[in-house]
Amino acid sequence: MAIRKIRILGDPVLREKAKPITEFNSSLEQLIEDMAETMYQAKGLGLAANQVGELLRIFVLDLKQREGNPELLVFINPEIVSSEGELYEEEGCLSIPGYAAKIKRKAKVLVKALDRTGKPFEMELEGLGARAIQHEIDHLNGILYIDYLSTLKKNLFKRWWKKHRPR
Ligand code: NI
Repeated sequence: MAIRKIRILGDPVLREKAKPITEFNSSLEQLIEDMAETMYQAKGLGLAANQVGELLRIFVLDLKQREGNPELLVFINPEIVSSEGELYEEEGCLSIPGYAAKIKRKAKVLVKALDRTGKPFEMELEGLGARAIQHEIDHLNGILYIDYLSTLKKNLFKRWWKKHRPR
């Protein structure tokens, strides 16, 4: 296992669309282990492959680690089947360290994906879990949550980022 370097806003890999995973082999297992380790070390809620420089449709998530009760979830080739309701809550991202902003998300999602063995599953999530799923799937499509900010807030963010981005 290895901790991978988390890519930061400005790295072009965060703006690319990841490709579906077709092979469930030992290199995929290695990637999953590395992503989990990297996410836990950074104390993140979730981590998408783009964030460690891999353009593959996979993300890891742990909604329970903050309660001291870790449960690693792995989503491969994820798709939102249906969604409803609306949330407006503060979001952050390991690739944009130090920043957080409120954005709109669906309140409830039904997601389908493959597990680490290639077996399909479905999961229904609400609240924080629903927001995390939407955030991570966006990563796989090259979208970052700051893209949803108003023009005014985007400009404020750009100024903030100039001063605060890690060097
Ligand atoms: Ni993120």
